[in-house]
Amino acid sequence: MNMSADVEKDTNGRDVIFERASVRAFTDAPVSDEQARLLLRAAMAAPSAGNQQPWEFYVVRDPQMLAKLAGCSPYAKPTAKAPCCIVPCLRTQGLRFPGCASQDMGACVENILLEATRLGLGAVWQAIYPEPERMQAAREVLGLGDGLEAFCLIAIGTPASEVHAKGADRYDESRVSWVDGERA
Ligand SMILES: Cc1cc2nc3c(=O)[nH]c(=O)nc-3n(C[C@H](O)[C@H](O)[C@H](O)COP(=O)(O)O)c2cc1C
Repeated sequence: MNMSADVEKDTNGRDVIFERASVRAFTDAPVSDEQARLLLRAAMAAPSAGNQQPWEFYVVRDPQMLAKLAGCSPYAKPTAKAPCCIVPCLRTQGLRFPGCASQDMGACVENILLEATRLGLGAVWQAIYPEPERMQAAREVLGLGDGLEAFCLIAIGTPASEVHAKGADRYDESRVSWVDGERA
């Protein structure tokens, strides 16, 4: 292990990995089509097993639909008052590596959270998958057809208060095993 401080953490304030924090309260400012497309472009840049890209996305900005989505999970209240919720959905049919699909979805969700931070937006990941009751509720709200499952709700908007400065650095050396050696 030999890392300089500037490699460990970008101190220019541009390091979205460390600036990101879950945001659960938003102003009334809308999320524009352009912002939503930037978020989805980041999502679709995520790695996936065999590049199978098992995702489809709903961009929900209708307040009544946002309230209904918030009712799909006991932990999704932020969605009710957010100006926008992106619902990444998981295709369950025709995948080459179906066992990896939820990992693919996690990668794409993290990309959305990081891009939101870069854009000065705030967001929070609210789990739907793999809870059957939440998945069924989201299926009914969105009218999802066979072969598509809601993965999570990502409430997005302008943060109601300054949050990005408090992004976490949870580095914990006790979680790391270093396995070093020399090439023969
Ligand atoms: C798989 C997953 C599910 C989560 N589900 C919820 C949720 O249902 N509601 C919520 O408010 N936050 C949810 N979160 C956000 C976590 O609570 C949050 O990431 C964690 O407390 C760390 O805080 P931070 O995101 O600010 O670093 C979820 C995060 C992940 C990765």
